[in-house]
Amino acid sequence: MTPTERPAAPVDVRIEGVELAYGTTRVLKGIDLEIRPGEFFAFLGPSGCGKTTLLRLIAGFAEADRGSVRIGGTDVSGRPPWKRDVGLVFQSYALWPHLTVAANVAFGLEERRVPRPEIERRVQAALELVGLAHLAGRRPSQLSGGQQQRVAVARTIVVEPKVLLLDEPLSNLDAKMRVSVRRELHALQRRLGLTTIFVTHDQEEANSICDRIAVMEAGSIRQVGTPMELYERPANLFVAGFLGAANILDGTVASGAFTLAGGARIPLAAGAVPPPGAKLMFRPQHASLAADAPIAGTIVHREFLGATVRYALRVGESDVVVDVPFQSGGDLHDVGAHVGIALPPERALYLAD
Ligand SMILES: Nc1ncnc2c1ncn2[C@@H]1O[C@H](COP(=O)(O)OP(=O)(O)O)[C@@H](O)[C@H]1O
Ligand SMILES: [Mg+2]
Repeated sequence: MTPTERPAAPVDVRIEGVELAYGTTRVLKGIDLEIRPGEFFAFLGPSGCGKTTLLRLIAGFAEADRGSVRIGGTDVSGRPPWKRDVGLVFQSYALWPHLTVAANVAFGLEERRVPRPEIERRVQAALELVGLAHLAGRRPSQLSGGQQQRVAVARTIVVEPKVLLLDEPLSNLDAKMRVSVRRELHALQRRLGLTTIFVTHDQEEANSICDRIAVMEAGSIRQVGTPMELYERPANLFVAGFLGAANILDGTVASGAFTLAGGARIPLAAGAVPPPGAKLMFRPQHASLAADAPIAGTIVHREFLGATVRYALRVGESDVVVDVPFQSGGDLHDVGAHVGIALPPERALYLAD
């Protein structure tokens, strides 16, 4: 059976209470996650936060000290990689340079001693799925970076995994290729309907193609949500700052208002309950500049970006960015000008670390 003939029903992945340490370094600190059947899911976080370790743990190349991994309801903890129905595409692709595209894709089936006619049929089907059937006779060095990546994906899906794991699959491509290849990857994932986990440190990559994202920091998951949920309703300052530009200001909460260090008073929106130690967070496009607005600042830099004008301001001890839509014929504020920043109360979020 080939992936094109009968796609298996997609499975879920459940990670419960996973802890992992290398020596005394805790790399994964109590991970709980539920990835839905057929979902395109991202692990997003800065370098060193544990994304690859978590992916390797799902694949069976690392073992947790505590906790479990379930794939399609089956606890796979303790099983070797080849008994988990997962396919891992490595960051480096790891293609055999001396083998043709077809032979690279056939490799895993030969290892499993699949009969020759079936190998040929499945390799052909996998190459058609990734749009490379016409290049089956080439060697990896005769392909572009994006095509090599598709060979790596074909080689993984030909063994019919239930879960596809991709570790920074776009990082070897130049900036332009990354955008077109990520679209192809998204279209392919939808065609396959395969539960897919995509590891990246690039928020734009995760936002543009993934259904949901787990934002990780130092071995912990800080928030899980759709790209829009994470942007609009970040749960903490880390997520707010990691997904998009964020202004963050210190202050104190008293009698229905947040008072900035410099004295400006911002009334709390109805129902707003700032957590202890909260700071004010707002996006650059949600504020505006006006002479009589409450937050006093000084413009230190101005960038004309076409559709918007980006102002960098100094507010007390903090740096603030405000994006103002550009109106032709409108007046711009000059560097050095003292202006006020206006912020609608419902656009002010109060978040802690
Ligand atoms: N085999 C290992 N032995 C010791 N430390 C490791 C090993 N693999 C990873 N680490 C450490 O675990 C942390 C997480 O690594 P990794 O999962 O590769 O992060 P990411 O993929 O998010 O960049 C890092 O601090 C890294 O140095
Ligand atoms: Mg990594």
